[in-house]
Amino acid sequence: MSKTTAISPADGPIAVTGASGYIGSWIVRDCVEQGYTVRACVRDASNGDKVDHLKALNDQGLRGSVELHEGDLFKKGSYDAAFKGCAAVIHAGAAVGYNNETPQEVYDGCFTECEHVLESAIAGGKLRRFVFTSSFAAVGHPRPEGYVFTEKDWCGDNIEAYNGRWTDEMISQNRDIAYAMAKKNTEKLIYARAEQEGTFEAMAILPLHVIGPLMCKNHDQGWSWQNCMRYMLQGKPYKKSAGGRMLWNNTDVRDCARAHRLAAESTKAHNGSRYILSAADRDGELYTWQLQAMMKSLFPHVKDIGGEEMDGDVPAKPTRESPRAYCLLAKQELGLTTYPIEDTVRATGDSYFELGIIPS
Ligand SMILES: NC(=O)c1ccc[n+]([C@@H]2O[C@H](COP(=O)([O-])OP(=O)(O)OC[C@H]3O[C@@H](n4cnc5c(N)ncnc54)[C@H](OP(=O)(O)O)[C@@H]3O)[C@@H](O)[C@H]2O)c1
Repeated sequence: MSKTTAISPADGPIAVTGASGYIGSWIVRDCVEQGYTVRACVRDASNGDKVDHLKALNDQGLRGSVELHEGDLFKKGSYDAAFKGCAAVIHAGAAVGYNNETPQEVYDGCFTECEHVLESAIAGGKLRRFVFTSSFAAVGHPRPEGYVFTEKDWCGDNIEAYNGRWTDEMISQNRDIAYAMAKKNTEKLIYARAEQEGTFEAMAILPLHVIGPLMCKNHDQGWSWQNCMRYMLQGKPYKKSAGGRMLWNNTDVRDCARAHRLAAESTKAHNGSRYILSAADRDGELYTWQLQAMMKSLFPHVKDIGGEEMDGDVPAKPTRESPRAYCLLAKQELGLTTYPIEDTVRATGDSYFELGIIPS
């Protein structure tokens, strides 16, 4: 491809799927701030709980504007009208498999959704960039403790060393492997399709633990990382891992959102570029007990903050030192700047109080 496919607001509207979601909403906000006309794709434009915060962006004196469009990821062609003439499509929508889907359904769903979105994006006639919200799951795989993952890693790598635990055969048996393999194989599919088409380039953002402020109450989705922090702020233990032990490798939702737009605009990003969105350095990596201690110092008015099983002042058991990864490439190639971790943790908690999800 001789000419760059990088876009700017002058190239026409852009569309965002999953626009009502936690990451999608911040992508919409960032793009509107930068002067884009954003077609925010939601399932139900009449559901105020999910879209009022998006509509409100038009009343804030921002440079761009937002229009709501309806579409369903599982309905072929349902984005055709929304994507017509769009210079870029940012695909942040997903049915992420917390609704009793089988692992195979999680895996198949990701392709079906992406195929529908991509075909509508190409049919729109002006597509230059397709940015997919993949996941760090498409990178991580069993490695020795402390191993630092980069964008060169793919889940499913190094199978021999781990007794074949991450093979395609495992997809139907394990939801996490199904999700990871789906993201990985969907990435490969969009890069191949862009190569074959030759008129646009595809790239992916690979977030790790996304936390940061919620724009509306609906962003407090059960089992999300932000929702886990909410429970900690309400004095409950961290519930997603044994004893609450986990290495939180955090990215701010606002940085994650900005990285999507920067990928669409970057002349360095190219077809197949992938960017891990995680801690920028070790400060952003926190064991649960460290996150808990930070929350205690940032929210001194909260009486009891839950988290990890402790033995006095020290963790009851050590935490596995994984996953380690840093969003260096996004900083180098996309020019991304990132929020300090204290700002992110503070803004997450503040939004829970401001939205009244946690009573003050
Ligand atoms: N949050 C993280 O830590 C994290 C980490 C890595 C990767 N990711 C990826 O980031 C993306 C966004 O995640 P999120 O955290 O923002 O989740 P979220 O808040 O649950 O947002 C998901 C969005 O997808 C939409 N959606 C679901 N099913 C749909 C369907 N059938 N048709 C149309 N839209 C549908 C939802 O719309 P409704 O409002 O109508 O339900 C919502 O807008 C996902 O691809 C996820 O895999 C997230």
